[in-house]
Amino acid sequence: MTTPFYITTPIYYVNDVPHLGHAYTTIVADALARFHRMRGQDTRFLTGTDEHGQKVEEAAKKRGLTPQQLVDQVAPRFDECWKQVGIDGYRFIRTTDAKHKKVVANLWHRIRERNPEDIYLTTYQGWYCVGCEAFYTESQLVKDGESWNCAVHKRPVEWIDKERSWFFKLSKYTKPLLDHIAAHPDFIRPQQYKNEIVSFLEKEGLRDLSISRTSFAWGIPAPDPDPEGHAHVIYVWMDALTNYYSDLCGADGALESADAMKYFPHAIHLIGKDILRFHSVYWPAFLMAAGLPLPKSILAHGWWTVRGEKISKSMPATRIDPAVLAGALAVGPLGYSIGIDAMRYYLMREVPLGNDGDFTFESLFGRFNADLANDLGNLVNRSLTLISKFAADFPPAEDQTLFAAGENPHWQLEVHAFQATNLVAKELELCAPSKALEQLWKLIGQANRYIDQTQPWAMAKAKDPALPHTLWCLQRSLWTIAQMIAPVLPATSQTLLGWLGDSAPARWPEGVQGRVFTLAPAAIATDATPSVLFPRLDEPMQAKIVTAVAGEYAAGASAAPADTPAPAPKAAKPVEAAKPEAAGPITYDDFAKLELRVGKVLTAQPVPKKDRLLHLTVDLGEGKPRTIVAGIAEAYKPEALVGKQVIVVANLAPRKLAGLTSEGMILAAGDEAILGLSAVDADVPPGTRVR
Ligand code: MSP
Repeated sequence: MTTPFYITTPIYYVNDVPHLGHAYTTIVADALARFHRMRGQDTRFLTGTDEHGQKVEEAAKKRGLTPQQLVDQVAPRFDECWKQVGIDGYRFIRTTDAKHKKVVANLWHRIRERNPEDIYLTTYQGWYCVGCEAFYTESQLVKDGESWNCAVHKRPVEWIDKERSWFFKLSKYTKPLLDHIAAHPDFIRPQQYKNEIVSFLEKEGLRDLSISRTSFAWGIPAPDPDPEGHAHVIYVWMDALTNYYSDLCGADGALESADAMKYFPHAIHLIGKDILRFHSVYWPAFLMAAGLPLPKSILAHGWWTVRGEKISKSMPATRIDPAVLAGALAVGPLGYSIGIDAMRYYLMREVPLGNDGDFTFESLFGRFNADLANDLGNLVNRSLTLISKFAADFPPAEDQTLFAAGENPHWQLEVHAFQATNLVAKELELCAPSKALEQLWKLIGQANRYIDQTQPWAMAKAKDPALPHTLWCLQRSLWTIAQMIAPVLPATSQTLLGWLGDSAPARWPEGVQGRVFTLAPAAIATDATPSVLFPRLDEPMQAKIVTAVAGEYAAGASAAPADTPAPAPKAAKPVEAAKPEAAGPITYDDFAKLELRVGKVLTAQPVPKKDRLLHLTVDLGEGKPRTIVAGIAEAYKPEALVGKQVIVVANLAPRKLAGLTSEGMILAAGDEAILGLSAVDADVPPGTRVR
């Protein structure tokens, strides 16, 4: 029986929409899960959403929604996004799932049963960052004039003044954690992050941790009553971290489920470095206190940045939508799936896991043209063209005598392919996709050189009896490569295997006695005309891609038109649909053409069958209210809009939307659920001009 493989991503906060940074974690986890599945391992892959906490409660209130309504609207975005970018075979957990709530309560009870002194009541006083949902000491914050700012969010933190709270005796676990890390060298990876945690534990030690809040209600209720009668909800990180365990439990929430015992000790928690401490200190300490097994590894990766800024919600100009990027790269006959593969390849190849990476179009196009179009694309094209051209007269066939002759190009290619199956696998086992790809591309280079060396076209001309063997070797190395690219380039792999006459799901080519596993009988149609999988991106194409992607994230930074109709599914968006680049400076006369007026929303109702649209009537002081159709239904409940003052572009040509004529546009900032309507700070009459 093979060892189970269990990989998790962090569960994403629902106050954001998925961006390339989130996609990176999920894509790496997906590639590793695919690899282990290909090797026949019992593989489990978990992702999901983190839905409780103060910031969700605040965001919902602002929008006139209950927190549950807000999270129900936003959580599916992540699931949809992962489906759009081809993430496969995952389970999706939400912290509002009933089973998860039971498991969190059971974990609390278990800690109290085993270590009654580990959870106790007192009062908390100190700084709290709502963005991180974390408590900080002043030494962890940045002083900015009068206020203390969070180092991650660069915004002031909140002072919590003597809030009654349950505490967890984290201080007791400094030594047990250090011992565990010493006994399990792979517990925190890569090394630099292990060093960081060890030095933190050794130098600073741990203080007890507040694990409940009373000043808001959106969370899992603390299972024990407070003698003073306060209602506590469990600290959002204790709740969230437990997801990795709760997904393995049965509906009753019992902690000792068969799946938990089977998979959890093999868990690899893939995370961004920003949440290292929560995973490598708090989480194992909770588990130790409960007497439960610890995960196998905490695997931290670095941050993706754009022009040096971390891709994040608070930096709208950095936010790249993964589905838009994949759509923009959807060139060539396979379209969107090649866009996905190219994005996956770039993310995994460009940066060794653990390091930060700066997203640039230059490096993206460089990788695309050099690695995918030139190296892989050319190999595929040349090999298949040669094989199909000569197969009628020289059907590919193995010639044992040529292998037996030892040192020759055929033998070298064979040995190289065999070694690659082991080297690439080893790197993937170590969760190092960038190094795995480096090894794999060496083999691709070797196969390209093989064609240059053997010159099958010249062999055909000379009727060389070694040609069938040469074609066989080419076919065989291509098949090996087609299998090994599957974790990172699943669509390319499938297409290629199809062209090679292999329709079975990808499986890892294992080496036996110095040879790659025998090739399944391949039936390459002699008339097969392979298409170019990755066409070279020329300058006009590159410009279109930049516009499609950069236009999209630049829009997040500025006031997005609120009545933009629901976009067509992103997956289908061709490069041609790119937005025009932002105009340069405009004159006052240009601006004066816009008639911006204050409007007051009189009525608001949903538009049947259009989830994102609301049908509003807005008073612009003209006697007859205007009909405006706005794409804001995901952010606002109709009731929350009635009576609101908004800014309307009043001289926009009327436009038909969902069968209604929209007679203006409401200004808003942000997108979809994370959207704010532009505000008017004074009670001015409807129709007042905004200048
Ligand atoms: N909800 C918590 C995690 C709880 S896990 C028990 C959280 N959520 S998050 O949505 O803010 O971020 C989750 C993860 O997204 C990060 O840890 C990281 O894996 C990924 N990333 C978010 N921005 C990123 C980059 N700019 N670059 C790389 N990964 C990034 O924290």
